[in-house]
Amino acid sequence: MGRLKDLRKYVNAKLNKMEDEDKRLGAVNHLYGVSLAAVMIAEKRGLDPEIAAMAAMLHDLYAYKSGSYDDHAQKGAELARKILVKLELTSEEETDIICSAIAHHDDKYSVDGPMDELLKDADVIHHCLNDVSKPVKDKEKARFESLCREFGMEGPK
Ligand SMILES: [Fe+2]
Ligand SMILES: [Fe+2]
Repeated sequence: MGRLKDLRKYVNAKLNKMEDEDKRLGAVNHLYGVSLAAVMIAEKRGLDPEIAAMAAMLHDLYAYKSGSYDDHAQKGAELARKILVKLELTSEEETDIICSAIAHHDDKYSVDGPMDELLKDADVIHHCLNDVSKPVKDKEKARFESLCREFGMEGPK
């Protein structure tokens, strides 16, 4: 079994413990949606698509488990490290890359490393394209416009 599949098995088991069905489905939709967007961006930018997908699968897990978005990026990175060390799916370097991306994913205004930027962008793509009838959030506008240029999409009207 591939390591992404192994990680998804673990994440699915955690998500299945969420009692509220709508929240659970929302969490599954978001993590898998960001994961797909992350792979597309990785392929476009020449980054590792498997690491991108793994970072995406873990990026908001802390918030879903705890029910709180307070400091969820930093706490999410700590949780991701525990999970990755336990599952032994990644090298130390890969674990650091994934945890850095998760720690930075809520800093949408700043520019960080390539995998950090990839995860922020994948998160923005899912926020903006999951329901195009919803307005793009102010803090995601510049990033979404730049993604539209990168992917040759018309973008927000
Ligand atoms: Fe988040
Ligand atoms: Fe997210």
